[in-house]
Amino acid sequence: MSPESSTPRVTVAEAGRHVGETVEIAGWLYNLRRSGKICFPQLRDGSGIIQCVAVKSALPEELFEKLKDLTQESSFIVRGKVRAEPRAHGGYELDVEDAEIVQRVSEADPYPITPKDHGIDFLMDHRHLWLRSRRQHAILKVRHEVIKGIRDYFDSNGFTLVDTPIFTPAACEGTTTLFEVDYFEDEKVYLTQSGQLYNEATSAAMGKTYCFGPTFRAEKSKTRRHLTEFWMVEPEMSYANLEDVKRVGQELILFAIGRVLEHRREELKVLERDVSKLEAIQAPFHRMSYDDAVVKLKGKGSEIEWGGDFGNTDETLLTEDLDRPLMIDRYPTAVKAFYFQPAEDRPEVALGVDFIAPEGYGEVIGGGQRIHDLDLLLKRIDEHGLPREAFNWYLDLRKYGSVPHAGFGMGVERFVAWMCGLEHIRETIAFPRMLYRTRP
Ligand code: 4AD
Ligand code: MG
Repeated sequence: MSPESSTPRVTVAEAGRHVGETVEIAGWLYNLRRSGKICFPQLRDGSGIIQCVAVKSALPEELFEKLKDLTQESSFIVRGKVRAEPRAHGGYELDVEDAEIVQRVSEADPYPITPKDHGIDFLMDHRHLWLRSRRQHAILKVRHEVIKGIRDYFDSNGFTLVDTPIFTPAACEGTTTLFEVDYFEDEKVYLTQSGQLYNEATSAAMGKTYCFGPTFRAEKSKTRRHLTEFWMVEPEMSYANLEDVKRVGQELILFAIGRVLEHRREELKVLERDVSKLEAIQAPFHRMSYDDAVVKLKGKGSEIEWGGDFGNTDETLLTEDLDRPLMIDRYPTAVKAFYFQPAEDRPEVALGVDFIAPEGYGEVIGGGQRIHDLDLLLKRIDEHGLPREAFNWYLDLRKYGSVPHAGFGMGVERFVAWMCGLEHIRETIAFPRMLYRTRP
């Protein structure tokens, strides 16, 4: 095939618009069936998979032999006529007229991932290749849709995106999960646990802001819900309270689910996701106070006592009979981060809320109202044993036009795991970072 070939190059996804025309598609060999005088190389190009039909009698002998012996994941370019084929996956096939093998994978060192069952460790070690599989591809497509949906929601609701730093001088979510980094001249900094403190500054400048980036937690526990590096979207609103957090959090979730259902049906099918579970997510979400949640848990046999934080099992117990998220508010101040505003009538509980997803996906959103009073904030910083000097700039926000304000964080990977119906969060990000995994 000559490089100056005038045949239009299209993607698999676009092929349907070219029925009856000769086009060129570039990709990789996903699978190959053959039967004597005919072979069916399936080409994937990231936009889809199309079955090509190569007929021996219609092609130069050498070319037919090359195609017939093509190895899995070899890269190649085909030229041929698009034909509608209702029985084919995707609805079209390509009748091969010409092809060029770009790189043939050697039989001596074949593509390591085969249709046979590989263990999860093997697949995680080959994550850089595993991403080409249909399932992983579908998950990344859903992730992309979720991220785009989140951005569209905030962008069309008056929020300005302001990025926050990754090197930070102080803890936001407690000192036990900080990753310390050697900075210059003996200075220590930490990888950010949350952009929230900076959002509080930017929301005083912009009214409503959000940040969206990677966050880090030195989580020593090995669970199916925790990564050490994950992506979080965090809105922050000036002149706002706990109720605003519930309203916006619910709207955001409904908007993002709507987008996934609207645009990613195919992928959800590949993932064998029961979409009726997602379609059932409607407003209003369930609401419950921490106090009532403790009572409910005790009724279900949990050992929880008032004052304790909920673990994964508790969260699952609380939502097992629910078809939509549960918002639990007013947790004990003592189990929450230093910045939570205590309830006016009951300072032992904080004006915070967690959104617990159904089907055992756990907490997807955490947030609430922040302390806006300088003296109370100073007291909390001291009680939590945090160094005042690292928070000087943050304290300024309480001196110069302090207002009630509120916000939250939603973990992208937890949300995607829920959308896709995945057992484990590790498949929701291309290259997961966990307690025992930093490669590839
Ligand atoms: O509840 P978290 O810790 O809240 C904060 O960081 C606040 N500063 C956010 C804010 O108000 N601006 O985390 C928020 C969300 C959780 O609900 C969860 O979805 C996700 O971040 N998350 C994790 N996701 C994956 N792995 C981890 N280790 C996570 N820790 C939290
Ligand atoms: Mg939380």
